[in-house]
Amino acid sequence: MKILGALVVLMLMHSFYDLVDAQGSWQILNRNAGIACMHAAATHYNTLIMLDRTNTGPSQIRLAGGKCRNQPLERILKNDCWAHSVMMNPVSGAVRPLTVQTDTWCSSGQFFDNGMMVQTGGDFEGLRKIRTLKPCPPEGNCDWMELAEPLAKGRWYASNQLLQTGTRQIIVGGRNEPTYEFYPKRRAGEGAYYLSVLDGCCDNLYPFVFLLPNKLLFIFANKDSVSLNWETGKVVRKFPTIPGNPRNYPSAGSAVMLPVSYTTGFTRGEIMVCGGAANGASRTNNVGAACSNNCGRIVATAAAGGWAMENMPIRRCMGDMINMPNGEVLIINGAMNGFQGWGKASNAVLNPVNYNPNAAAGRRFAMWAKTGIPRVYHSTASLLADGRVIVAGSNTHQFYTYTGAFPTELRVEAFSPPYLGANYNAYRPAITGAPIALKYNQVFTMAFTVGVRRGAVTVYQNSAPFTTHSFSQGQRSLHLKTSVPVRAGAGWSMQVTAAPNNSLAPPAWYIFFCVQNGIPSKGKWIKQNN
Ligand SMILES: *[C@@H]1O[C@H](CO)[C@@H](O)[C@H](O)[C@H]1NC(C)=O
Repeated sequence: MKILGALVVLMLMHSFYDLVDAQGSWQILNRNAGIACMHAAATHYNTLIMLDRTNTGPSQIRLAGGKCRNQPLERILKNDCWAHSVMMNPVSGAVRPLTVQTDTWCSSGQFFDNGMMVQTGGDFEGLRKIRTLKPCPPEGNCDWMELAEPLAKGRWYASNQLLQTGTRQIIVGGRNEPTYEFYPKRRAGEGAYYLSVLDGCCDNLYPFVFLLPNKLLFIFANKDSVSLNWETGKVVRKFPTIPGNPRNYPSAGSAVMLPVSYTTGFTRGEIMVCGGAANGASRTNNVGAACSNNCGRIVATAAAGGWAMENMPIRRCMGDMINMPNGEVLIINGAMNGFQGWGKASNAVLNPVNYNPNAAAGRRFAMWAKTGIPRVYHSTASLLADGRVIVAGSNTHQFYTYTGAFPTELRVEAFSPPYLGANYNAYRPAITGAPIALKYNQVFTMAFTVGVRRGAVTVYQNSAPFTTHSFSQGQRSLHLKTSVPVRAGAGWSMQVTAAPNNSLAPPAWYIFFCVQNGIPSKGKWIKQNN
């Protein structure tokens, strides 16, 4: 009887864990991070840069050491003692105030190869500014610097992408600015270049920009997209218009490049665009308009072919799409009605959904555990090396406002996907050996331990993007070639082949994950060199 009882309890526990693990779980990391997080980026020191606008008036965290910012052009607080950016340690949840000098509202950013964040544009006095932050360990005191050199044009709602050298980025679009430019400039006095796909009437800000394996840039605005040879300025292919609604700000769709894999010789760059507001929603101020539930996929490296459409289980505006450690895609945050803007959305989507691009059509989406905290306009989602997704921000008000349907959200939450669940502990690999830096095509040894060896082992290499307004600028994931693991001491070892060239992986810090049967290890930061 006793044994039977214990067995039943065990079986019940098992199914309980199965249920929890099947949908993931949520944990609050910090109940008051001091700022609402409009922009976020995870650094190779495993910290999170969080950034808001400066013209919000008081935040809930003061600048350190009694400092105040004196900015005569600032429109709300000319003598401002409040921080509008913080550095978070996602292990402890602790935050440290950072100092921003000019308005970062709806700005953009990207890491350079040396790990330095370059952050560009914003509103008003910040419109043509370039700021840098060289990250440091959690106990360090790194902070923002502002450069004297301005951008060629004002950039508000632009997107940045690191280019092949790892030391230059392209900055694309912005309000009333259908052009792109480079930082650093390619020659003294270089200006901006017109690009017609950016020049529509609306719903084309924060364009989706990806560096393709064939060295061209994919640039998507509203419903249209092109591939651009940025070296010559020539548009190589104009892609068919995506069916359905417009996808860019303020329509609030999102996009990823699906993992580029050795299985296709690293030649296939496929873009996936999901959700967004209904046609004309923002122009007609139709705040109740139902958001789109569809996604389109297009092979942007192919000479022909169009969009393959499929439906998400929930419709969504202001979702964030994330390349996950195991090659899948998470769609998280957002709302079911409305569009981007202050007070323009309702019906928060509390459940993330997961998309497995390798599953059969009709079986790719899974609905995951819901949070209790709505994340609508001006929220972010960032993948951490430990496999969690950190979710922050949401402020649909001009100032910090703690009343109403969607109060300014200062809480930071972590979503642990099902792969972090306890019943996968035995199957989760741990990387025990790998180089700290790689050259292209380098064959290197990765050592790992795992409780139970079961199924295929693969390696994914993920970039560290800059996330804002439902798009993670510079996000990419590579699926690397591996040998069959062999026994090595108490663990296993295999040979991994690094990416072939800098159009696949521009020099930068990347997170490498060892994945057994869909269950990823904690990631290891490795520097990809040129
Ligand atoms: C980079 O590698 C990809 C995949 O092998 C290839 O298609 C592309 O031509 C390469 N680019 C350059 C500049 O060599």
